[in-house]
Amino acid sequence: MWASQRAGAVPGSIFGRMNAAAGRARAAGLEVIDLSIGSSDQPPPEAALAALREATRDPDTYRYPLFSDTAPLREAAAAYLARRFGVTVDPDTEVLPLIGAQEGLAHLLLAVTDPGDTLLLPDPCYPPYLGAAAVAGLRTVPLPLRSERGFLPDLDAVPGDLAPRALLLNYPNNPTSAVADGAFFTRAAAWCRARGTLLIHDHPYAELTFGGYRAPSALGAGLEGVVELHSLSKTHHLGGFRVGFAAGDAGAIAALARVKGAVDFHAYLGIQRAATVALGLPDALGRAAAQTFEERRDALVPALRELGWEVATPQASMYVWARVPGLEDSVAYAVRLAEDTGVVLSPGRAFGMLGEGFVRFALVQPPIQLAEAARRLGQGRSVRHGRQS
Ligand SMILES: Cc1ncc(COP(=O)(O)O)c(C=O)c1O
Repeated sequence: MWASQRAGAVPGSIFGRMNAAAGRARAAGLEVIDLSIGSSDQPPPEAALAALREATRDPDTYRYPLFSDTAPLREAAAAYLARRFGVTVDPDTEVLPLIGAQEGLAHLLLAVTDPGDTLLLPDPCYPPYLGAAAVAGLRTVPLPLRSERGFLPDLDAVPGDLAPRALLLNYPNNPTSAVADGAFFTRAAAWCRARGTLLIHDHPYAELTFGGYRAPSALGAGLEGVVELHSLSKTHHLGGFRVGFAAGDAGAIAALARVKGAVDFHAYLGIQRAATVALGLPDALGRAAAQTFEERRDALVPALRELGWEVATPQASMYVWARVPGLEDSVAYAVRLAEDTGVVLSPGRAFGMLGEGFVRFALVQPPIQLAEAARRLGQGRSVRHGRQS
């Protein structure tokens, strides 16, 4: 009765159904291996936790934090962008702390669009993108990500008369784990500038990269008309702390600050201090954590290929995106798989129409559990073609 049209327009999530299926598997006595949610199981850097502990003993952190109090985090973010990507931003006007990239995106859309504007966004995509677009009252136009193109969009195929207010991209990508190079962002930024479109790049997996691969920043294409969202959830395993930052076009950042000023008082100062410390840590620490996910990838991908599944070797992210031969209903498949084997995956359909036929594994368990999951998938093959639920 009290739900607004806006609230009603936010799509429901399939993850509740997956959680219920996992509950039924547990109740039936199965040991559940949950690979459905991309929440890092790695510990945050000890120095960041120490900064937070210390902050809780400092009464100066108990008050509302003001914009001026965010200066150390803004400066640490600017130094990180310079060190890691060679990008120069003004910490006063081109950086803004966030309460996570997800919060940042929802408020950024409110800050830079008007109801009825068009948002071009990938299919498949991180599902909250659609909720954020619905809250902002946007018309969404899907931009297909297909395996033949390495899950990169074909911007030349977008009709010439479509002038979206914003284009949303995300590389390393969730759910496909595809990566993009600097030249791709240069082309995307030029495409956006030609159409008067803001390029929003969601970049939470910036440091979860494997081997010699390092992910570029979209800000390498220049700050004008580009905003990038960074998160410490995956790069520093601080997901529960809710902290990140936006950087880029000064006009868009100012608009975001204005909207957020009506909504929140910035993150708790202790969390800001933890994030400030984390962003200043040597890159080698982040490389070691990324290696953990790389080892898991190496445990899972060959085992899936042995099952006959089509899967690329990810160079980044914490996901494996696999096409299951003959799969037509990924939601029904994932629910039955969870109930019958205890292996909980994300159905590809949860990420968009073009996710159908795929499942996503989050690499949030040790290699031995991933190998066990693949073994159960092999045994559960009859699940796909067999009994109806
Ligand atoms: C693409 C993408 N963007 C944003 C987020 C959420 O980031 P944060 O924890 O900073 O809100 C996630 C989390 O899984 C994600 O995959």
